[in-house]
Formats: sequence, C-alpha cells, structure tokens
Amino acid sequence: MKRIIGIIGAMDEEVAKLISQADITAEETVAGMTFRAGTLGGANVVIVKSGMGKVNAGICVQLLITRFGATHIINTGFAGALSPEVTIGNIVVSTEAVQHDFDVSPLGFKKGEIIAGMVAFPADKELVGSACKVIAETLPEVKVLSGRICSGDQFICEKAAKERIVSEFGGLCCEMEGAAVAQVCTLNNVPFLVLRAVSDSADEAAGEDFNFSVFQSTVAEEFAEAIVKLLTIIK
Ligand code: ADE
Repeated sequence: MKRIIGIIGAMDEEVAKLISQADITAEETVAGMTFRAGTLGGANVVIVKSGMGKVNAGICVQLLITRFGATHIINTGFAGALSPEVTIGNIVVSTEAVQHDFDVSPLGFKKGEIIAGMVAFPADKELVGSACKVIAETLPEVKVLSGRICSGDQFICEKAAKERIVSEFGGLCCEMEGAAVAQVCTLNNVPFLVLRAVSDSADEAAGEDFNFSVFQSTVAEEFAEAIVKLLTIIK
C-alpha cells in the first residue's frame, strides 16, 4: 500500500522548514487547520500545523487519517527536558507517550490511564529504529535519546510541576500534543512517532529559553534536515 506520512507540528516554527522544502500540490483548510499535501524526501506527505494542545492534536490526527488518508503519523516539535540526562539541543525519539494531566484515580484508575489498563501508547518500533539511526547519522554531534514522552495541556515552567510529572510518570521530556497524537493513532491502528527537539528545561527559565535561545535558528534547521532524511527511508 502506498504510504502517506502525516506530519503534525503545533506551531508555525515547528513545520515551516518542512513546508518550505516540500513540493506541495494541494492545500485544504478544515477545522481551521491547513493541510498541505505533496512530496518531501521522496515521500508522500501531508503537513499541517495543528495548533497547541491535545484537543487540537486529536482533531488534526483524525482528519489526517480519515480525510487525507495518512497511513503513518509523525508529530514533530519542541519539548522541555524532564530527565537530568536531557539538555537543550538534544533530540528525543518517542518509544511511548503518556498524558501527564489525565487523572481518574479517584475512581480507581491508574494516573494517566485513558483506555482500560493503558497508560502509555507505544510508538511504532520500525519508525523509532529508523529515526534513531537516521538522526545519529545526519547529526552526529547531537545527542539523541529514545524513551517516554509526557504530554499535557500546560507549558511546564515551574520546578514543582516538573517534579510532579517526573515522580508520577518519569519520562525524558514534556510537551503538549504527542500523547494525544498517540491516542488517536492507537485507536485507528495507525503507526506513529513523536520527535522532539529540546528547547528548554521545563523550569522557571523555560519561557525565556523557548523564546530567545539560538535554538530555533540552529537546532530547528538541523532537526528538519534529519526529518527529511527519515522520510527518504520510511517512504
Ligand atoms: N514545549 C516546549 N517546551 C515545553 C514545556 N516546557 N512544556 C510544555 N511544552 C513544551
């Protein structure tokens, strides 16, 4: 079956470099989101900015799958570091994603348990393996880690909030969409991968780090290059 890779980023900065390099042949706006279909790195792609947070991401992925025929989903963007192993400029490849703000524990469920018995949504092993290999080859000077990504509808910029997520869920980094993408893909049986470049340390300096670091101009450029290489392999 012909693969169509849906690529989602929450903000303009997270998809702009990919859109500018793609050969876009069709464009349609649904639910306020502009879906751009074409090719990139020889792969059939649909690239879209979802807007921030889990609801936007969920709507966006379902549209990518049912309306635009995406067979695989990649969620790309920035993230805050959770683990001490992770620092600004690292790239995190998801092995799984959890929703750190989902809590029905007063009714006897585990924290983060969304679908019966399921807290973490596993990413596609083939995509994870390809991404780790390609990023390491393309950006040998960048540290690449694979592991759990924690998502929730907050920009984490306080030590206490960060520590709560780490103690309840562990994880390498936090962001605002990955686990919603993961949930929708799991429900639709569609393989997914979350790829995040670390922009801040999810602490009191996070806002400033995110907005003013050299990160967006340097790492973001290299990150896009690695994603294009990944597409050439998984197409
Ligand atoms: N995306 C980038 N940094 C983040 C943070 N600190 N919290 C949530 N999402 C992020």
